[in-house]
Amino acid sequence: MKIFLDTANIDQIREVNDWGILAGVTTNPSLCAREKRSMRECLAEIAGIVAGPVSAEALSMSAVEMVAEARELAAIALNINVKIPMCVEGLKAVSRLAAEGIKTNVTLIFSTNQALMAAAAGATFVSPFVGRLDDIGNDGMAIVEDIVDVYDTYGIESQVIAASLRHPMHVTQAARAGAHIGTVPYDVLVQMVKHPLTEAGIKRFSEDYEKIKHL
Ligand code: E4P
Repeated sequence: MKIFLDTANIDQIREVNDWGILAGVTTNPSLCAREKRSMRECLAEIAGIVAGPVSAEALSMSAVEMVAEARELAAIALNINVKIPMCVEGLKAVSRLAAEGIKTNVTLIFSTNQALMAAAAGATFVSPFVGRLDDIGNDGMAIVEDIVDVYDTYGIESQVIAASLRHPMHVTQAARAGAHIGTVPYDVLVQMVKHPLTEAGIKRFSEDYEKIKHL
């Protein structure tokens, strides 16, 4: 499973990019608002740092406006794909954008049927939101498993981005479910690096080496 970073924070993106694990970035208006700067300027900077796909969200309500907005977002950089919300106008926009070769990430997916329709319209990526389903007492990861299963059955090429991941176990479960990509908040990635036995092991090896390094 590829790892995307779910943030619009430039420092976090630069840091994780340096780790050598970063395959892409997803943003949304809430994440961009936290940075208190122009979304366009922020996206251009992110797309310049990361070699892989960067998702930028379209906020228009009609298909015609979404397509126009998506063309503008896609023109910022070659690696930008456009997040389109799952709705009838969104499906129309996705099919028009697919015909133009503009990549899309259909967002706010909460059911397998929505993922089937997004793929049929030509979505490059679909983003089922795991944590938000868990928040309302549903099993968010079950949707990821089901979408992957159905896509495999029919040889559907849209890639599944497990989104709204809130803790390290979500990431493991998304990988087990066969998600192509997991988009992960920075704090969760930091937690994923760590293990108490790794830290204890590094400490002990370092202390033991101190005893013999003069020999
Ligand atoms: C990513 O594409 C989504 O916008 C993000 O993962 C949503 O996460 P949240 O439900 O924690 O806001």
